Amino acid sequence: MSKPRLIIDTDPGHDDAIALILAHHFADVVGITTVAGNTTVENATKNAIRICDLLDVSTPVHSGASAPLVAAPDFASEVHGDDGLGGIQLPEPSRAEASDRAIEFLLDAVEPDLWVVAIGPLTNIAQVLNRDKSWFERVAGLSLMGGTTGGGNVTAAAEFNIYFDPEAADVVFRAGGKTLMSGLNLTHQVQISATELEHVVKSSPESLRTRFIDQNFARIIERLHDLTGSPEVAMHDPCAVLAVTHPDLFEFSPREVKVELTGSHTRGMTVVDERLRVVRDLSKIEVGYGVDAHAVKSLIFEVLYGDVSEPE
Ligand code: RIB
Ligand code: CA
Repeated sequence: MSKPRLIIDTDPGHDDAIALILAHHFADVVGITTVAGNTTVENATKNAIRICDLLDVSTPVHSGASAPLVAAPDFASEVHGDDGLGGIQLPEPSRAEASDRAIEFLLDAVEPDLWVVAIGPLTNIAQVLNRDKSWFERVAGLSLMGGTTGGGNVTAAAEFNIYFDPEAADVVFRAGGKTLMSGLNLTHQVQISATELEHVVKSSPESLRTRFIDQNFARIIERLHDLTGSPEVAMHDPCAVLAVTHPDLFEFSPREVKVELTGSHTRGMTVVDERLRVVRDLSKIEVGYGVDAHAVKSLIFEVLYGDVSEPE
């Protein structure tokens, strides 16, 4: 069976980096577009190219939006560091970005069998939809990491990718195209701890790649432990990739989703309608509720560290 074809829209970002590694392993990544979020779009673009260098792939990287549609950018430096991949030593990018026209690339490169996986704020996707309302009819679908059916991570109500640019998320969810939403309620079911990593890190020969992966997990687990007290890291962005490449490991349900824009405590909240009703036309937006976390983590460990499985 041929590999799924993907465009990844991303703001690398430690978990974005793992998602990019998984995407290149399980899919045909025809392009990467970058967006401001965890860090500036300049840093995100450099990081995306550095990760491609690590994987020895020539995936074109097109830079996109440097700021949200309306709000001022509020980068996640306290988690990902000032350059977006804090704590990780990587060589400088081997090449320049393919273009600074991510929107045009997303408009022109999409095809009916191609999925777009958005693992950062939705600014680029919103700008695409503002230019071409029919865009969703020209892609297989949009798999996004963002939102939640429960509590947030940036505020009590809002998840980071939505909170960074709620106006963009509002455009995307109002468009109502084929969308898989991997929110925190789903991604928090797939947590990796330092203890687990000690078990799975095989004595594989030291390489730039294994050093990168070890530094990535060490840094993000340390920061999250400092910030939340939790000694583990959720595989947020990897879920949005694996929801396309391994759909059988996930459970999604159609839901109407609205984005709160004006609430003084709830701006950026994804309001997921879970009322039991008989509706005629089911929403094309599907919200993730279930995941085989053991199988997903085994896949992640296998790709990152070779054929190991998660400790029982
Ligand atoms: O809330 C998780 C999301 O915000 C992920 O995309 C992660 O990269 C952070 O930016
Ligand atoms: Ca991200």
